[in-house]
Amino acid sequence: SDKQRVLSGIQPTADSYHLGNYLGALKQWIELQDSYDAFYFIPDLHAITVDQNPEELRHRTVAGAAQLIALGIDPAKSTLFVQSHVPQHAELTWVLQCLTGFGEASRMTQFKDKSQKQGAERTSVGLFTYPVLMAADILLYKPQLVPVGEDQRQHLELTRTLAERFNSRYGETFVVPEAFIPEGSAKIQDLQEPTAKMSKSGSNPKGIINLLDEPKTSAKRIKSAVTDNDGVIAYDREAKPGVSNLLAIQAALTGKTIDELVAGYEGAGYGALKTDTADALEAFTTPLKARYDELMNDRAQLEDILAAGAERARAVSEPLLDDVYEKTGF
Ligand code: ADP
Ligand code: TRP
Repeated sequence: SDKQRVLSGIQPTADSYHLGNYLGALKQWIELQDSYDAFYFIPDLHAITVDQNPEELRHRTVAGAAQLIALGIDPAKSTLFVQSHVPQHAELTWVLQCLTGFGEASRMTQFKDKSQKQGAERTSVGLFTYPVLMAADILLYKPQLVPVGEDQRQHLELTRTLAERFNSRYGETFVVPEAFIPEGSAKIQDLQEPTAKMSKSGSNPKGIINLLDEPKTSAKRIKSAVTDNDGVIAYDREAKPGVSNLLAIQAALTGKTIDELVAGYEGAGYGALKTDTADALEAFTTPLKARYDELMNDRAQLEDILAAGAERARAVSEPLLDDVYEKTGF
């Protein structure tokens, strides 16, 4: 196809993706699959850079794929696969690790943060080389576009550097990809701590909206979201982070603009804002959960989809790795 290629991945490190993952990343993936030749994958190799329970990891990997499909990733349009099903990712990583400077890898800020929190003895070397595995994920498929969150910008820079380094040492091989940090994507904040981003590792579970949670649970969390005392519904991320977050969530779920919403709430209180936001969420998650359950109840079909995705991925990654091995001297 003459379409440009897009590639991205999302880790299988929770039972459910959360609303931030969807509105900040996955919604863009779904939009991009129509105009791009899309490769989306579940990076299970990345997940074991920190401790994982094997059965839980296996479940979350399949459940992650089911959520992507339920959200709208169409396996007929997009190549959807699991990273560990395509051995070229690990193989290319070794070659790229030997082209990465120790000092260069030591400058990755995400590693510095995480390893500082865990302590050196509990930090794996895999966590240290994680960005090189990510570079391999990307470079194997020659994508022009890699949609990621702001926190992945430095990893994308390393990927570009490694592509250029390999190309200049061994001859033109990799496409130097662009980070695509979508402007239209909504940044979703923690409901209890609206100045911090919603994250699976957030300090209070009540701050998170999981896509697969019961509507009642999520409605309760929205209704107890932290707001402020001035009682005015207005969008101001600095002065009114809690109210602004609810407006952003509702806008992204309904397709209405924030201005439209604000205009509609003239004279209304936070109760109305919260009820409407919870309703919009329920309208979105109820059919999502039904599609997810259906997919998870037919494991054989889900596994077939992922096997077909891995086959399509290998059709691209295998010749590329062969070329790399040949040029490297293997
Ligand atoms: P978490 O922060 O929960 O661990 P990840 O780091 O695995 O989530 O992020 C997966 C994807 O979801 C990334 O593309 C990231 O940018 C996006 N994302 C995560 N949290 C948010 C958020 N609160 N708002 C918008 N996008 C988010
Ligand atoms: N590191 C990414 C994250 O935590 C996930 C990821 C792994 C990825 N490999 C990738 C994203 C390749 C884009 C491209 O969000």
